[in-house]
Amino acid sequence: MAARGAAPRAAAARWLAGVLEGRSLAAGPPRAVEALAPADRALAQELVYGTLRFLPRLEWRLGRLLERPLARRATALRALLLLGLYQAGEGGFPAHAAVHATVAAAAGAGAARARGLVNAVLRRWLRERGALAAAEAEVPEARWAHPAWLIEALRRDWPQRWQAALEAGNRRPPMTLRVALDRIGREEARALLAEAGLTSRPVPEVPSAVALAEPVPVERLPGFAEGLLSVQDAAAQLAAPLLEPPPGGRVLDACAAPGGKTGHLLELVRDGAEVVALDSDARRIERLRATLARLRREATVLTGDARAPAGWWDGRPFARILLDAPCSGTGVVRRQPDIKLHRRAADVPALARTQAAMLEALWPLLEPGGMLLYVTCSLLRAENEAVAGAFLAAHADAEEAPIEAAWGHACRVGRQVLTGEGDMDGFYFARLRKRGGARG
Ligand SMILES: C[S@@+](CC[C@H](N)C(=O)[O-])C[C@H]1O[C@@H](n2cnc3c(N)ncnc32)[C@H](O)[C@@H]1O
Repeated sequence: MAARGAAPRAAAARWLAGVLEGRSLAAGPPRAVEALAPADRALAQELVYGTLRFLPRLEWRLGRLLERPLARRATALRALLLLGLYQAGEGGFPAHAAVHATVAAAAGAGAARARGLVNAVLRRWLRERGALAAAEAEVPEARWAHPAWLIEALRRDWPQRWQAALEAGNRRPPMTLRVALDRIGREEARALLAEAGLTSRPVPEVPSAVALAEPVPVERLPGFAEGLLSVQDAAAQLAAPLLEPPPGGRVLDACAAPGGKTGHLLELVRDGAEVVALDSDARRIERLRATLARLRREATVLTGDARAPAGWWDGRPFARILLDAPCSGTGVVRRQPDIKLHRRAADVPALARTQAAMLEALWPLLEPGGMLLYVTCSLLRAENEAVAGAFLAAHADAEEAPIEAAWGHACRVGRQVLTGEGDMDGFYFARLRKRGGARG
């Protein structure tokens, strides 16, 4: 990609500085980025996401290239340097032009007085990168571009597969679509995409999924506004069918926002079955409502805490419960790369406690013979089979309904897709059936 000038780099540096200071990437870009022309906005986004994807490696390089560490508060300058190192390394930008444009962005990025330093550090990188490579290979965070705690956790949990999962976590993810199969066939949808000039491939593991050769703004997707197509990773599309919603059976989506899986469930339910979509986050609930409006489908939407059903449950049991629990997100770092920066090892046991509390609270809402699908986008056994296994061990009326599938890996309980397998995100699924009822 040719260096296109200072403005998008300056705006990207401001965005990245905010994320380095603790803001979530999911909160979206600042106004400086939104004000850019579409091509420059796309460039700024690529720079920020790319830099975050390789952040642990770029931070290591920066540490080696600076004479003295940067002041903690020099976030604007740090962001600009990291963006420069990304472009002149992993980003695949013409290095000298990218350095030139990054130096030119210093004033706009809020680091005007550091122009000389930016120039010196990036030129030093161009001279010394060959010599640094050997040292870099010895430092796990730099080698794998993931935080040390996560590298260790994956080595422990997936001794045969951790390297592939880490490499996949550094790659750009595909833009994957879900086809509303109750309204249009997958090949028919691909033909519509082709007419719109978009190349796609069917994802073999997932009957509803189509991966685009190149990401595009959703406005360019034929049938998006009408709900024929939705943007959703292929592994996320495995969830709703695993729940096997029975005709007319009431379904609870207990952590539903922004509604990706709710929408999919609504494509699968039959005979007027009610879907109840719950989430505790009122702002995310608004996004769920917008999703439902676009899909032109209806669900009962509730704001409430999945751990405290007394606050929202009407006492009528559910035939199926989907618990897509809040988790470490370690299976989706390629899409949300700020997880590498913001997530800490200490978060994992706290998340596992929340997940267990949710299972515990939701179980009484399930009718005998009913099924609960526990899902996370985590790769860590502590949030997955350990949570589901402890629940089964503690509940005599719960048994596993095993998942037989061509994808993923069987765990002690449940099944795991690791990041990059089938070009999918990393996801975990466990099906827990309640004994009794017609099947019991
Ligand atoms: C993994 S996301 C759900 C994604 C969603 N199922 C989808 O497919 O679009 C987890 C969700 O859990 C919600 N959440 C977190 N704590 C919760 C709680 N105590 N009760 C209900 N929802 C909660 C978050 O607001 C977040 O929207």
